[in-house]
Amino acid sequence: MRAADWLLVLAFLPFVSLSDHPDICTAKPKDLPLEPRCIYRSPDPEEGPTPEPEPVPEATNPRVWELSKANSRFALSLYKQLALNKTPESNIFMSPISVSTAFAMTKLGACGQTLQQIMKVFEFDTIKEKTSDQVHFFFAKLNCRLYRKKDKTTVLMSANRLFGDKSLIFNETYQNISEMVYGAKLQPLNFKENPESARVTINNWISNKTENRIQHTLPAGALDSNTILVLVNTIYFKGQWKNKFDEDNIQASYFDISDSRRCPVAMMYQENKFRYKHFLNDHVQLLEMPYRGDDITMVIILPSRGTPLSQVEESLDLTRLNGWLNELKETTVSVHIPRFRVEDSFSLKEKLQAMGLTDLFSSERASLPGLLEDDNDGLHISDAYHKAFLEVNEVGSEAAASTAVVAIGRSINLNREVFDASRPFLLLIRESTINTLLFFGRVADPCVQ
Ligand SMILES: *[C@@H]1O[C@H](CO)[C@@H](O)[C@H](O)[C@H]1NC(C)=O
Ligand SMILES: *[C@@H]1O[C@H](CO)[C@@H](O)[C@H](O)[C@H]1NC(C)=O
Ligand SMILES: *[C@@H]1O[C@H](CO)[C@@H](O)[C@H](O)[C@H]1NC(C)=O
Repeated sequence: MRAADWLLVLAFLPFVSLSDHPDICTAKPKDLPLEPRCIYRSPDPEEGPTPEPEPVPEATNPRVWELSKANSRFALSLYKQLALNKTPESNIFMSPISVSTAFAMTKLGACGQTLQQIMKVFEFDTIKEKTSDQVHFFFAKLNCRLYRKKDKTTVLMSANRLFGDKSLIFNETYQNISEMVYGAKLQPLNFKENPESARVTINNWISNKTENRIQHTLPAGALDSNTILVLVNTIYFKGQWKNKFDEDNIQASYFDISDSRRCPVAMMYQENKFRYKHFLNDHVQLLEMPYRGDDITMVIILPSRGTPLSQVEESLDLTRLNGWLNELKETTVSVHIPRFRVEDSFSLKEKLQAMGLTDLFSSERASLPGLLEDDNDGLHISDAYHKAFLEVNEVGSEAAASTAVVAIGRSINLNREVFDASRPFLLLIRESTINTLLFFGRVADPCVQ
């Protein structure tokens, strides 16, 4: 049997749900029978001065912390790839953690150079653990950390599922590990005889898991009778500001898309204490606004007036970003942010190929023998789709009683810092205790719908 393509799909959204596997969150590595088909062994690090180790956050497995950093490095690389192919005036939005998760699931069945490229492009080889199989264990732990939220008003959900052609027999060990670690059950569909109806089934599933926010993820014609496996990963986030914006403080204003173009926006305003800093030498201001529960926050990176966003993008790497985040200080800030909505969808194939993930998409070179029974190694991934959505507005619950509302009114405090997001900015939504990037993007034009 010559197995044909398989296709990987990602769907996203800023607001996520992981199917509940309560045991995995407390399990030890030895309790889990994690035996993927192939194991990649990272080469020994080159001799030389070891970099200064960063402190690991409290109550965090050091490997899980390294995985979180690996995901962030991948996020920034992917962002740069996306930015290369867009005009400076177009928005970008994605969930890097969702992309990494979907490909980690793929990695379960990968061997040889295909496996090695996944380890490299997703930076999994930077985790100080010699063997690739353990990455899945750390992913499970990271997911437990991200999706087990204390605050009931914040919804972060991720849901994963494999859709396989019903004529094929998928390896049971693969299915079991996938379900245990990623909660990704296999659902048989009839791709061969009715790819169009399979496509609709998958899109409906994605829509259902994202509160109907992400629809039509798989475009018409994305599936055909050669499709054998579709891997779907969704993420949904909905949060209420810890300090909401008052509706009465919303004003009609303008957003400067470029020197020659501006567009009308509804500008929200509040003055409050936030983690903030103006980095004069780097020409950026950073503001961090928490959602209720405090663990998930939005960070806005705003270039100084006169500094193009592209300049900030070019110099951005994880060391610099984390350097900024670590220096933020509670400050009284007068905040102006437009209401906006960004939606982005793209095929990941070309971007990841440009980053070095080539074999997985090649019908000649892909090696994914772990997916099917009987060593069938004829699979490759034909494409991978990502779709993400974010809506930001004033809504939020009232500030918790313990929060000091420092000043109300626009002109009293002359020493206050002003954060005026009326020009293009970068934005990230992160889990702040372990610094995992859930969403990343840029708002260059808040007026497009
Ligand atoms: C399924 O995969 C496991 C792990 O790679 C392997 O040991 C087993 O032989 C495979 N089963 C079949 C029936 O091919
Ligand atoms: C997979 O999981 C099922 C249900 O838990 C179990 O019965 C089966 O033995 C497992 N198969 C393998 C190959 O681990
Ligand atoms: C998703 O499907 C479940 C089960 O059919 C249903 O209860 C739920 O309301 C659906 N959610 C949405 C957003 O449509």
